[in-house]
Amino acid sequence: MKKYKRHLVTSALPYANGPLHIGHIAGAYLPADIYVRFLRMKGEDVAFICGSDEHGAAITIQAKREGVTPQQVVDKYHTINKKAFEDFGIAFDIYHRTSSELHHKTASDFFTVLNAKGDFEKRESEQFYDEEAKQFLADRYIIGTCPKCSYENAYGDQCENCGSSLNPTDLINPRSTLSGGKPVLKKTVHWYLPMNEDEEWVKTFINEGTIDGYEHHNPKNWKNHVLGQCNSWLDSGLQPRAMTRDLDWGVKVPLEEADGKVLYVWLDAPIGYISATKQWAEDNDKEWSDYWQSKSTKLVHFIGKDNIVFHCIIFPILLKRHGDFILPNNVPANEFLNLEGQKLSTSKNWAVWLHEYMEDFAERQDVLRYVLCSIAPEAKDSEFTWKDFQARNNNELVAILGNFVNRAIVLTHKYFDGKVPESKVDTAVLNTVCNHYDKVEEAILKYNFRQALAEAMNVARIGNKYLADSEPWKLIKTDPAKTAEIIHTSLLIATHLSHILEPFLPHTMKKLRGLLNIKNHLSWHFEETQLLRPGQQVNPAEHLFTPIEDSTIEAQIQKLENNKKAKATQTNGQAKTPISFEDFTKLDLKVVTILEAEKVPKTNKLLKLKVDLGDEQRTVVSGIAGSYSPEDIIGRQVILLANLEPRKIKGIESQGMILMADGEGEDLSFVSPEKKVDNGGKVS
Ligand code: 2FM
Ligand code: ZN
Repeated sequence: MKKYKRHLVTSALPYANGPLHIGHIAGAYLPADIYVRFLRMKGEDVAFICGSDEHGAAITIQAKREGVTPQQVVDKYHTINKKAFEDFGIAFDIYHRTSSELHHKTASDFFTVLNAKGDFEKRESEQFYDEEAKQFLADRYIIGTCPKCSYENAYGDQCENCGSSLNPTDLINPRSTLSGGKPVLKKTVHWYLPMNEDEEWVKTFINEGTIDGYEHHNPKNWKNHVLGQCNSWLDSGLQPRAMTRDLDWGVKVPLEEADGKVLYVWLDAPIGYISATKQWAEDNDKEWSDYWQSKSTKLVHFIGKDNIVFHCIIFPILLKRHGDFILPNNVPANEFLNLEGQKLSTSKNWAVWLHEYMEDFAERQDVLRYVLCSIAPEAKDSEFTWKDFQARNNNELVAILGNFVNRAIVLTHKYFDGKVPESKVDTAVLNTVCNHYDKVEEAILKYNFRQALAEAMNVARIGNKYLADSEPWKLIKTDPAKTAEIIHTSLLIATHLSHILEPFLPHTMKKLRGLLNIKNHLSWHFEETQLLRPGQQVNPAEHLFTPIEDSTIEAQIQKLENNKKAKATQTNGQAKTPISFEDFTKLDLKVVTILEAEKVPKTNKLLKLKVDLGDEQRTVVSGIAGSYSPEDIIGRQVILLANLEPRKIKGIESQGMILMADGEGEDLSFVSPEKKVDNGGKVS
């Protein structure tokens, strides 16, 4: 552990465009907080850095949606998220903002240093432009059909349905989210980082852990899925990437010729870690450079899996090109957390929001911390359900941990006037307990927080078993000295619990130390008999955890469903711009009969249909396989938009579009004539 003099721990800066949900917490914040609390107990020097990412299209889109300015959006969500983190007990040393002057200067200077070294290539390219809104479109402002899975609302940078990363020009039928119109390609200039030049050293850094022959870290300690994602990127070859964007919200590119351009997230958000450290150092009489520029600092980035390449490849390239910076020792990214069988989704309002949890379950922060750590998606995606949340609270926190502590304190009051008995202690059981510190430590240092928590909870199990096996409530009549030993030992086990579980359940462990009347002087290594001495008064028992009723859980499940429905109604009900009757008559809508239907190979959603229009037959590709099987729809009469420009989907030319009504979730339903109509019949 002492190989490093200090630790720099960062958690991904969340966009200040919305509140935080449990997926964010389980991914990048709770594991980091546990790690940092542990390091502090070990007496290590740590800086734990985070803040709001207040730039980029994510913010400007939200501002448009809410009808306010980007500044108002970031002010609002920075406040909400900062408070949610504090209430939940994520103990950052600083929660900074990328809109701060210090950050703008730091990011801008970073660009200038790289630019002066000739690290950028200025390149002209064609990018989508919205002629109505008169602006270039950030990737997120463009939606269209994903070429990989045919999802119709894929973003220009990523398809949320299949997860593929995309370029806006990959989208089929792209449309601007600003005006709804078809964007046009227009020339623009950007500053590219020729990452292809960095490919070799990055490969060695990722896979061998060395830089210029210097042993930097052991790649065996990196998670498999992190290495896997990096190598799949590296295998397809590093490409030059634009580090600037056409947008009027963000850190301005510090060059006269770059008017209307800002630094892209890659050259902005992670520099936010540096500027936040500078601010923290200034406020606390520290040197920021000790944390970022000394080889005796261990840098660890906690992130979600969507930011792996960013932190393992792009940011290290920027840091190395700048020079004088250390690179991450590890990037223990987590995978994704699902909720009640579905992907967490902000746009569908399918989420448990942290600030709402705090309203509904005030004082129960640690229950959520416990559950999210127990199910953390450390090596693969995992799932949160309210029933499981209830079960873990009732069967583990209440029945194991709370029950043990309660019995130890209640019996102290019952038999010994609430004082720690003057007696010897059971060293065998205490030794077993003490062995758990190393197990927890080992797991934490490997970023296996689930396992670490399980090992720490085993101490409560040992305590319960000790009481159950020794039955002091029976012994008190025959052997008061032995009873005193058991109670004394149990109180010492509770003292250990209040330390070994501290990184995971800090609120409850503080309460436990209060009940035991012991100092809050936290350390991973301590003499339990010095902390809790014979004769010391213990406070009256109070429950650390209480059972959660079925009705509470049902209300939460109902709330999820209600939120989702409300959002769907809101989205569907959004008024579109009125069109003239003449515009409407431009649509050639016809009744057709489905003659043939078959699945499009290698897709989940697409069916290839042959339809009869009376005087002709056409092929249409339709994304309805999730709702209909081919054999069930032959002979159905449906409505075809016959004059939609033909387009190629999965190599098949689709000559029109079948009208569908959106049902619950992903369920689609044909729009059909009520009576039989001749094929080709006009719909108006
Ligand atoms: O992806 C995101 O959420 C961005 N706000 C970037 C986070 S990582 C960073 F801070 F470097
Ligand atoms: Zn897709």
